[in-house]
Amino acid sequence: MADPIRLEQIIFNLLDNAIKYSPSGGKTILAVSSKKKDVSIKVRDNGKGIPEEDLPYILNRFYRVDKSRTRSLGGTGLGLAIVKELVLAHGGTISVKSKEGIGTEFELVFKGADSIENDTIS
Ligand SMILES: Nc1ncnc2c1ncn2[C@@H]1O[C@H](COP(=O)(O)OP(=O)(O)OP(=O)(O)O)[C@@H](O)[C@H]1O
Ligand SMILES: [Mg+2]
Repeated sequence: MADPIRLEQIIFNLLDNAIKYSPSGGKTILAVSSKKKDVSIKVRDNGKGIPEEDLPYILNRFYRVDKSRTRSLGGTGLGLAIVKELVLAHGGTISVKSKEGIGTEFELVFKGADSIENDTIS
């Protein structure tokens, strides 16, 4: 069970970044698979990547690798913070792997129906 509008926002924000931070002609892959009883959603690009020193902060509000406000790609730095909040609100987890100049992969893991069938709503 998920909120479809929030799920769309999660995927949209990740795809928006994948496209925005990749050169034209770059490749973005969206992969959905089962992980035991859970569901894994991966968004991978072969764009500019995120420097190792920035990775721990990337999900924080207003954090941007390029701090210049005049930059043409200028976002607010809120997209990933919103993704994190929405994923956590769904009881999911988010992780990121990235290499500068190689690309970035975000993975979301949500509990599958079987994993939560014994949960009770009180
Ligand atoms: N796929 C990616 N490849 C490279 N860098 C990324 C990627 N996704 C995010 N980043 C880096 O992380 C920062 C934070 O991303 P986030 O989506 O939170 O903000 P934003 O894209 O700058 O602005 P907003 O999403 O609010 O328009 C980005 O500014 C960028 O530096
Ligand atoms: Mg963004």
